[in-house]
Amino acid sequence: MREKKQSLDFTSKWCYEPAPENSDHIQLKKKYELFIDGKFVKPTKGKYFDTINPATEQKLAEIAEADESDVNKAVKAARNSYENVWSKMPAAERGKYIFRIARMIQERAREFAVIETLDGGKPIRESRDIDIPLAANYFFYYAGWADKLAYAFPNRNPKPLGVAGQIIPWNFPLLMAAWKIAPALATGNTVILKPAETTSLTALKLAEIIADSGLPPGVVNIITGGGKTGAAIVNHKDINKIAFTGSTDVGKLIQHSLANTNKKLTLELGGKAANIIFDDAPLDQAVEGIVNGIFFNQGHVCCAGSRLFIQENVANIVIQKLKDRMETLIVGDPMDKNTDIGAINSKQQLETIQKYISIGKKEGADFYQSSCALPKKGYFCKPTLFLNTSQSHRIVQEEIFGPVLTIQTFRTVEEVIEKANNIPYGLSAGVWTDKGSRIFNMTSKLRAGVVWANTYNKFDPTSPFGGYKESGFGREGGLHGLQPYLSL
Ligand code: NAI
Ligand code: MG
Repeated sequence: MREKKQSLDFTSKWCYEPAPENSDHIQLKKKYELFIDGKFVKPTKGKYFDTINPATEQKLAEIAEADESDVNKAVKAARNSYENVWSKMPAAERGKYIFRIARMIQERAREFAVIETLDGGKPIRESRDIDIPLAANYFFYYAGWADKLAYAFPNRNPKPLGVAGQIIPWNFPLLMAAWKIAPALATGNTVILKPAETTSLTALKLAEIIADSGLPPGVVNIITGGGKTGAAIVNHKDINKIAFTGSTDVGKLIQHSLANTNKKLTLELGGKAANIIFDDAPLDQAVEGIVNGIFFNQGHVCCAGSRLFIQENVANIVIQKLKDRMETLIVGDPMDKNTDIGAINSKQQLETIQKYISIGKKEGADFYQSSCALPKKGYFCKPTLFLNTSQSHRIVQEEIFGPVLTIQTFRTVEEVIEKANNIPYGLSAGVWTDKGSRIFNMTSKLRAGVVWANTYNKFDPTSPFGGYKESGFGREGGLHGLQPYLSL
């Protein structure tokens, strides 16, 4: 028999056929109203704004813009249901509603994934495999705590705070809604949630589920709008707690507004994480971790591994492997199941990223982008590296929130810890090494809320998440995530 000869050609690129996800099963309304007191209601002033698909620049729907009087209505509904229904309900009953919401998200997971991708631009693979299943998992996890708070905090008599105002960003829309709503309900609070203006649709879909779940009216209110609407929530007198995830600038504004009030506050703000590769690390896995750390979700991740530190003696080989891997990344239609890097969330964010790319070039760092072509329409950015950067560069110090990685080298453990910590942020970090003892040494010295070892960007409802310094305070997830919603 003749032997079939196989030639392996690593230099030529794989060619993929388009594999678009079907969106025929999605029904979007033309107009979305505010979800207040269990009903969808028109905004008082009758104002609406457009939400678009950032991959095509096409309008998807109109979204109601809530003003102060709408916020008043939502707070009134939340207060009323807190006093008369939710705080009086046995905790096990509250848990049942949260379980039901979790199951309903699972049942409608495909619909959620497609809408998340259309509205926000992230690859369907991520919304399908990460965002939506994790959102359901956070509801499941916190449902389980609802009737066990006395065991979570023994001898402490945990009590809910009352009404929580929650403001979330556009990078993980449904997941951030779950991070906020699930622990608030499990601890017996009622909620007013505001999604970000570019990505309101999945939160409004969640409102439909909440209405269908039979949750008593007013326990969860979802109102839409921009910064003004957010500020009206922050400054409302009858709210007991504010939970905010977003930019450090707005976080600081909120902290200012709440000084002198007795509202409780948690802030989850920006980041500029160090991803540190030692010479004994499994280098191929580390390269996957670098790619996942910064190019995942277009770098729209507060804990993105945006500063890469490579031990000097392996720097050349890691950089070469990284460049080779970047060439294989597919940038384009977020609805295609092969896409690795989708659309930047908004024109404004794309401009911010482009501004930082030109700052990096002016600062004198070596610039490298993969050779892929970008779609003609929509907001896209090639995966980008800046090599030979230094601590004083703005691209090293400031959050870019896009697929842009800065690279520095180091020789000793002391040097890299010093550099990694020399930053206003402290949300997360990554360490790649073969030595367990070195991992423990690094995790105790890095000033970051989360340190991943030999992996990156992994989430689990049982793990607390949150920052140091200008990355904010308070923890979300796990047992720790119950605490900000309780008086103990
Ligand atoms: P942003 O902080 O303005 O928006 C986040 C949320 O806050 C949105 O729901 C927004 O409507 C609301 N908001 C805006 N102004 C407010 C105010 N005065 N009071 C209350 N709520 C207010 O973030 P933006 O402008 O969308 O992004 C700017 C930068 O922020 C990004 O380039 C990125 O660096 C960072 N960012 C960080 C996030 C994180 O997860 N830590 C998420 C989103 C952005
Ligand atoms: Mg949108």
